[in-house]
Amino acid sequence: MLAAEVDVVHERVWQAVSHYWEPNKIHGHGADHALRVYSMGLRLAAALGADPLVVGAGCYIHDAGMRPDVGREGHIERSLQIASALCEEMPELASVRSLLLTTIRYHEAELAYPAPLPMEAVCVRDSDTLDRLGFTGIRMTLQYGVWIGRELCHPTDPLCCERTPDLNAFTMDYVRYLGSLPQRLITPIARGHSEEKQKQREFYCSEFLSSFREGRMRNHEDALKLVKVHVREESHVA
Ligand SMILES: [Fe+2]
Ligand SMILES: [Fe+2]
Repeated sequence: MLAAEVDVVHERVWQAVSHYWEPNKIHGHGADHALRVYSMGLRLAAALGADPLVVGAGCYIHDAGMRPDVGREGHIERSLQIASALCEEMPELASVRSLLLTTIRYHEAELAYPAPLPMEAVCVRDSDTLDRLGFTGIRMTLQYGVWIGRELCHPTDPLCCERTPDLNAFTMDYVRYLGSLPQRLITPIARGHSEEKQKQREFYCSEFLSSFREGRMRNHEDALKLVKVHVREESHVA
């Protein structure tokens, strides 16, 4: 398929699924996450020789199953249902149905997968993981924390330096946990991209700690202010 034809299919997929993403900005997984993962997914596909049609469609659908009322819970199953329904409507997707579903089923870095994972699934997975790192990942984690009503940070160990991260209790414990994700990246090219993201997380954490010690880090809103300026800068560059 020509690149222009692939673009047309992607555009139709996005038209069909963007309404699922929009309301999920309430917990940080809005359309901006889909678009960033799509953009990086296609870069990885080009570098690794994966089928861009499948990678782009997988990126656009992977978290479409999230919901503003239940969040992440059960989202992969719902994303698979959305993808299956789209394959019924679009012959271009029907011919790659099994591969497309595989990219969605194994998109999260924590999930075990049957080796070898097809390169298209590797691209979607590594791209999603990269977006969970750095400023973009911190912002998503903070917004999810607001939505789920989690405490911002432990009162005496805010950056979780002396404890095992308690992901359900403290948002900043989750930010600490994000630092363990780069080792789950599959491709060297994604690991290369993750180095800058790790620097962003370290920078954010040091700024967070300074503010915390000065008593200026009272809630998620304060923590979000600290990251939003950087995410805006990033999207200008993009
Ligand atoms: Fe996901
Ligand atoms: Fe995602």
